Amino acid sequence: MSVLEQIQQLRQELHQHNYNYYVLNQPTISDYDFDMLMHKLEQLEAEHPEYSDENSPTQRVGSDLNQQFKQVAHKYPMLSLSNTYNEDDVRDFYRRVDEGLNGEPFEIIAELKYDGLSISLTYIDGKLTQAVTRGDGVKGDDVTNNVRTIRSIPLVLQNKSDYPHEFEIRGEILMPWASFERLNRERELREEPLFANPRNAASGTLKSQNSTVVAQRQLDAYLYYLIVPDGETPVIEKNNKSQQVEIKKTNDAQLDLFAEPVQTQLELFAEPDDKQNDTIKDVQSNKIAIATHYEGLQKAKEWGFKISDAMKVCRSLQDVLDFLDYWSTERKNLPVATDGVVLKVNSIRQQHHLGYTAKSPRWAIAYKFQTERACTRLNEVTYQVGRTGAITPVANMDPVQLAGTIVKRASLHNADIISQLDLHIGDMVYVEKGGEIIPKVVGVDSSQRSESLEPVTFITNCPECGTPLVRFEGEAAHYCPNDTGCPPQIKGRIEHFISRKAMNIESLGPETVDDFYQRGLVHDVADLYDLTIAQISNNNPNRVVSAQKAVEAIKKSASVPFERVLFAIGIRFVGETTAKLIARKFKSMDALSVATREQLLEVDGVGAVIADSIIQFFSKEKNLEIISRLRAAGLQMELAKEQLEGTTTLLEGQNIVISGVFNHHSRDEYKAMIERNGGKNVSSISSKTTFVLAGDNMGPSKLEKAQKLGIRIMTEEEFLQIIQS
Ligand code: IVH
Repeated sequence: MSVLEQIQQLRQELHQHNYNYYVLNQPTISDYDFDMLMHKLEQLEAEHPEYSDENSPTQRVGSDLNQQFKQVAHKYPMLSLSNTYNEDDVRDFYRRVDEGLNGEPFEIIAELKYDGLSISLTYIDGKLTQAVTRGDGVKGDDVTNNVRTIRSIPLVLQNKSDYPHEFEIRGEILMPWASFERLNRERELREEPLFANPRNAASGTLKSQNSTVVAQRQLDAYLYYLIVPDGETPVIEKNNKSQQVEIKKTNDAQLDLFAEPVQTQLELFAEPDDKQNDTIKDVQSNKIAIATHYEGLQKAKEWGFKISDAMKVCRSLQDVLDFLDYWSTERKNLPVATDGVVLKVNSIRQQHHLGYTAKSPRWAIAYKFQTERACTRLNEVTYQVGRTGAITPVANMDPVQLAGTIVKRASLHNADIISQLDLHIGDMVYVEKGGEIIPKVVGVDSSQRSESLEPVTFITNCPECGTPLVRFEGEAAHYCPNDTGCPPQIKGRIEHFISRKAMNIESLGPETVDDFYQRGLVHDVADLYDLTIAQISNNNPNRVVSAQKAVEAIKKSASVPFERVLFAIGIRFVGETTAKLIARKFKSMDALSVATREQLLEVDGVGAVIADSIIQFFSKEKNLEIISRLRAAGLQMELAKEQLEGTTTLLEGQNIVISGVFNHHSRDEYKAMIERNGGKNVSSISSKTTFVLAGDNMGPSKLEKAQKLGIRIMTEEEFLQIIQS
């Protein structure tokens, strides 16, 4: 078998395994075997860059090169649906459809309304060619590279399928609850702002400039709308008139409902291009006639798309109402967020007959589930102090049943929200638990407010240590600035220090930290290393063994590598990843502590906020003292020898752009080489670029720009020579 044939066979096998796993949920090989196949393909592709293909299964991991999204006009506008919130509106919709079809029988397809962000996918000859977000409905962002990393979206359609030569299919990109919760847990650890719900998380992810981030976040996608390609989709504004005419024509032609009138029949042809493989030739003669929305989706399912099974063909209003009723509770057991039901007229001919208003189709409607809401009495507002000193106001209420749990506390977020709500103690408040994790107060029933109630006024001093609170410019939260004396801040920092991804001191936990603090044994993280068995056990013989263990575990943590020490000391906004990048650049705590703002800003991912926070941290005497005590306790204050090995300052201060396909090393290897030698990887060419490391097939626009700016283009060989010198 030739190399190309091997590559093609591996690609096909891997596409099939991807489909089995992510669409059907029925893997047929082990993860290990899958990885082995993938590895083999990666190797072959690296050895034969001439056979690279953007739809290869290897492309699912994304690229960490920054990308800018270009705006693309939708071939067919992406309309929204009109929303309803109650059953009466659904009855009205049903009646309007009935009237619009002059009493002709019709079917309604009821589907779930997925709460993510809509996407339009284009396939040509069975291959994904473009993915565009909704945008303003007329044009959206081209997010194809990011969408390629979503495993349930086929890059290549199932073999032997009768798909059309070119078509567009629409659906929703979602972040499953499990991925969402994991992501937020990680963000919490890194002190990054949490995503309020899976929709925001999915949308933030899909707009990420770095497609490896998208690949890691594990998005999913359900498709729900196969587009009719041949001119049947109405043009909304300008051509309204001609549409009216068309409706008339169809009206006249309308006799037998499920007969297939030529005029509006959707006909899709598979039109292979000559260069294509046999599978497409197989379907050459295959004419697909799709008369209904349901059939379209069933076809799409055969082609390899993920189509929800939560779908029903309704032949009466009662069928529709039963579907609403069933899913209003059952939806809570789904792995993804839904916020309603979408009802669509099934026959495509009837859809066209009913047509569109300026904004939305007349043949479809969205019914939104009621967000679960409860009304209860607000008794008190208390305030929590986090490890960074951020103050969170919390509503304490009479217990009330909400979405299956009893709720008595809800977040009030910040002072602005309290004043917007005009909260008074004793108010009857509305609490909601929508897509959000923590219930929130969304309103007040002011009709029930008696005049004697006192308005809630935000505290001016820390509830824990009494220090006057401060508010930083542009931030909604209040902070307690007493970071070295405020108990929850002190304990919070120690808890962070011992946590798994930081120093990983397993034998300690929040309770022991609290106990040590109460007994006056620890005030800061350095105190941990002075603890003795006698102190911890409090001279209680029953506690000696566990105290011994604790002391040993603390001692052992001294060998934790420098980048984790950097994360553990809790510089605000410096999460795990940032700590790694900073460690790699500055190599030691000493170098970092005197770094200038400009030097800090050179680190990828470090912006003004992080840079300022680092400078502020090292400007505090108390922090310097803690670091010097940690150093004395033996903690790693610089990168280990192995990590430093092979690093040089050869490329220091140089901004390097990588472009094209390489022969000797992979792109990632070149990036790592640049970093190890002190250079900086940048994604786009500007006057600040030192040189472009160019492989084969460098993009023409990049080449032109580099030439225009007189920037040196360096070959792989030249680069390797410099490095090896
Ligand atoms: S059909 C012309 N079906 O809800 C009909 N939309 O306002 C196109 N959505 O923007 C939409 N689940 O993002 C359809 N099963 C479903 C849906 C769905 C979620 C979203 C979609 C659209 C919005 C409707």
